[in-house]
Amino acid sequence: MSTETTAQSPLRLAVIIGSVRHERFADAITSWLETELATTDGLEVDVIDLADVDLPLQGTRPGGTETAISGRLHAADAYLVVTPEYNHSFPAALKNAIDWHYQEWAYKPVAFVGYGAGSGGIRAIEQLRLIFPELRATTIRDAVLLAAPWTRFGENGYKATEGERAALTATMTELGWWARTLRAGRVAEVESAA
Ligand SMILES: Cc1cc2nc3c(=O)[nH]c(=O)nc-3n(C[C@H](O)[C@H](O)[C@H](O)COP(=O)(O)O)c2cc1C
Repeated sequence: MSTETTAQSPLRLAVIIGSVRHERFADAITSWLETELATTDGLEVDVIDLADVDLPLQGTRPGGTETAISGRLHAADAYLVVTPEYNHSFPAALKNAIDWHYQEWAYKPVAFVGYGAGSGGIRAIEQLRLIFPELRATTIRDAVLLAAPWTRFGENGYKATEGERAALTATMTELGWWARTLRAGRVAEVESAA
């Protein structure tokens, strides 16, 4: 991490799209998120679409390796993982992308936007919470759960409820606290080693 990073530097948020299906609801949710996050001061958003990244299952190595997105993941101060629920869990492509990387995740916070039928993706999120600590990433308490979001989709895109927007605000507030705090810790470590 650059020692030029200060407490005032914008937070770099990587939004990771967990679904790679050709026809997916993820796009509607990501568009909504991009619109909402554009109004947040001090945030630089990088949307990482796993559908655009070639990460062959046969190439995974323990400890990670350089990939087309490792630089973008490394540059992020925080992650917002957008995950659908598939069979009470999260998509295999998302696990694959997590496994392909290692150091990129370390000492950073991860928040979630989940979606699915009645569950709103909670089972996918709870399973992701088991995985990230192994990568020395911390997951934050608040999350956004979108239950049957397709029922609120129209010609103007996804129309969130007030509760969903409030959940996004709470999630981003907490994610911001962790991102600033952990970034300060990472900067201090680099400076003390210099
Ligand atoms: C393989 C598969 C399994 C699914 N299993 C669940 C499930 O367990 N719980 C749920 O709420 N929705 C489930 N769904 C419905 C998805 O949440 C819904 O199709 C959603 O739009 C998927 O996100 P995507 O379109 O961005 O890929 C499943 C969908 C697929 C394709």
